[in-house]
Amino acid sequence: MKFLITAGPTREPIDPVRYISNRSSGKMGYAIAEAALDAGHQVILISGPVNIEPPQNAKFVSVSTSDEMFDAVRRHADKCDACVLCAAVADYKPAAVSPTKIKKRNETISLELIRTRDILDLLGHRQDRQFLVVGFAAETNDLEQNAMQKLRDKNCDLMIANDVSSTNSGMESDANEVTVFFKNGERQKISRAPKEIIARELVKIFQVLQQKCLTKKM
Ligand code: C5P
Repeated sequence: MKFLITAGPTREPIDPVRYISNRSSGKMGYAIAEAALDAGHQVILISGPVNIEPPQNAKFVSVSTSDEMFDAVRRHADKCDACVLCAAVADYKPAAVSPTKIKKRNETISLELIRTRDILDLLGHRQDRQFLVVGFAAETNDLEQNAMQKLRDKNCDLMIANDVSSTNSGMESDANEVTVFFKNGERQKISRAPKEIIARELVKIFQVLQQKCLTKKM
C-alpha cells in the first residue's frame, strides 16, 4: 500500500519571530510511518516542525504552516491508498501576519484569529475518492461522543481517539492508549503501550480495511 501520513504540529506566524503552535511531538505519526515501512509499504510523510529524524525510506515533505500542510496533502493524496492525518493542525491562525516584529507598547494586545482549512474534512468529502481516510481525535473529555461525531462530520473511514487529559498518554508521551472507531459503529481498543506497538496494530487495521474496500469494489 501507499500511505500518506501527516505528523507534528503546525506553526501559524504572528510576526517574523513569533507563532502559534501546540505541544504535538510528532511521535505517533512518525511511529506509524516506521511501522508502515517495516510492513513493506511506501510512505509519504508530511511533517510539521518536530525533533525526530525522518524515517530513511519515506518520502519526506517538511512543512511549517497549516496552509503548507494543506497544499502538500492536496498534491500527494491521489497517489495514495490511505491518508492518515495524525498532525495536530492549528485550528486558528492570525488574521494578519505583521511584516515587522510587533513592539511592546500597550499593557494589553489583542490578536484576531481566523479558522484554518480543515485538511481532514476536505479529504473525507472528496468526490469519488479512492483512498482510505483516517483521522485522529485527541480529546480531554467525552472521548467517544466527540470521536464518533468527528468520524461522521468529516466523513472518515476510521477515527483513532486518544485521551490527552493525562500526562502519561497522548501528546509528547512515548506511550499511548487509543480506541479505533469504525464507520459501522464498531470499535476496537488498543491498551496502553509504547507508540511503536500501537502503530504496528494500527497499520494492521488499515491494511485489513483497505483490503475489504478493494474486495467490495471488485
Ligand atoms: O476537529 P479536530 O481538529 O479535533 O480533528 C482532528 C483531526 O483533524 C486530526 O486527524 C487532524 O489531523 C485533522 N485536522 C486537519 N486539519 C485541520 C484540523 C484538524 O487535518 N485544520
